[in-house]
Amino acid sequence: MNTQSLNKILEAAIRAPSGDNLQPWKIEVSSTPSFTIDLYNLPDKDGSTYNYLQNASYIAHGAFIENIIISAKHFGYSTDIKLFPEEANPDFVAKIHFEEAAPEISPLYDAIFKRCTNRYPFKAYEIPSENIKILSEIGDDIDGIDIHITAERSLINALAKIFAFNDRLVFENKLLHEFVFKQIRWSNAQAEATLDGMHIDTLGLNFLEKPFFPLIKNWPLVELLNNIGLSKIIGLKGKYNCRSASALGIITVKTADKHNLIRCGQAAQRIWLEAEHQELAFQPIVGLPLLIFQLNQNHIPNVSSKHVEKIHAAERELTNLFNISAQELLVFGFRIGKAHSIMTRTYRKSANPL
Ligand SMILES: Cc1cc2nc3c(=O)[nH]c(=O)nc-3n(C[C@H](O)[C@H](O)[C@H](O)COP(=O)(O)O)c2cc1C
Repeated sequence: MNTQSLNKILEAAIRAPSGDNLQPWKIEVSSTPSFTIDLYNLPDKDGSTYNYLQNASYIAHGAFIENIIISAKHFGYSTDIKLFPEEANPDFVAKIHFEEAAPEISPLYDAIFKRCTNRYPFKAYEIPSENIKILSEIGDDIDGIDIHITAERSLINALAKIFAFNDRLVFENKLLHEFVFKQIRWSNAQAEATLDGMHIDTLGLNFLEKPFFPLIKNWPLVELLNNIGLSKIIGLKGKYNCRSASALGIITVKTADKHNLIRCGQAAQRIWLEAEHQELAFQPIVGLPLLIFQLNQNHIPNVSSKHVEKIHAAERELTNLFNISAQELLVFGFRIGKAHSIMTRTYRKSANPL
C-alpha cells in the first residue's frame, strides 16, 4: 500500500467517535509479508465508571474498524480482520490485513468526515419509513448484535423518560461528574492543545445555558443546586431532547463479550454514517445502557444503591418498550432526527505511526 492511501485510511479511521472523545487507540503498521495494521487499545485513556472492562473503548474500536473497512474499499483495498488475535491480550484489538481490490465508492466514506454528535433539540420531522428500514437493517450482516429502532410517537415519549436518566445521573454522581467535566475543552486554544475531549460548543448548550455552564463544574455547588432541582432540570432537558427526536434506537448484543462490543461499535458507526448520509442528526445515549450492561456482567457500577435500583428499573422498561427478548443485552442507545448542522468539530490526535 502506498503512503498516500495509508494516510487517507488513517485520516478516516481516527474520525471515529469515542466516549468523551478519549481516542483509546494506537496502531502499528507492517508491510511484510502483507500489508497489516495492528490495532491496540490504550486501557488508561478512559478510566470512567462507564468503561468497566473497557466496554466503552471496545465500542469506539468497532467504529474505528468500520471507518477502516469503508475507507479501504474506497481506495481499492479489501480487508481481512481478526479480532483479538491473541486471546490472552485484551488490548490487542485487531489485526487487519489489506489486499488490493477494485475500488468501491460508498457515500458512507464522505459521511465519515461529516459525522458528529448533535446534542441540540431536533426539529419536528418524520423520517420516511423506507429510511427507517434501511437504518434498522444496516447491521443485518453483523453477527451477535441486533438493532431496534422506533419512530412511533407514543413509544418515543415513553422511552424519552427513561433515557433522560443518562444525563441526570452525571449531575447526581460525583465521580461521573468529575470525569465528564475533565473532558470538556473550554476554548478553541484548549481543544487545539489537547486534541481530545469535548469542545464546549459541541455540548448542545443554548445562549442562556452557556454562560451558566462553567459554574456547574463545581461539585459542591452542584450538590447545593440539586436541593433546588438542578439534576431534575438536566433530566427534563434530556427528556425534551429525546422527545424531539424522529426515532430512538438501541443496539443489543447476544452475549457480554468483547467481540460483540466491537461489532456493536461497527453497527453503531454504520447507522450513524447512514443517518449522516440521509442528512439526519444523531446523538448516542450510551452512559445508562453501559451501566445496565455492567449489571449483566455481574458487576455493580460505582454508583449509589438508589441509582443501582434505578438502573435496574431502566433496563426493565427499555427492554419492555423496545420489545427486546430476554436474551439480548442493551448496549448502545441513540436518537436520530432533523437538526441544524453543528459548526464546531471535535479534534483528533494523529494516528500515523510512520
Ligand atoms: C461508546 C460511546 C459512548 C458515548 N456516549 C455518549 C453519551 O452518552 N452522550 C453523548 O452525548 N455522547 C456520547 N458519545 C459521543 C462522544 O462523546 C463523541 O463521539 C466524542 O465526543 C467525539 O465527538 P464527535 O462524535 O462529534 O466526533 C459516545 C460515544 C461513544 C463511542
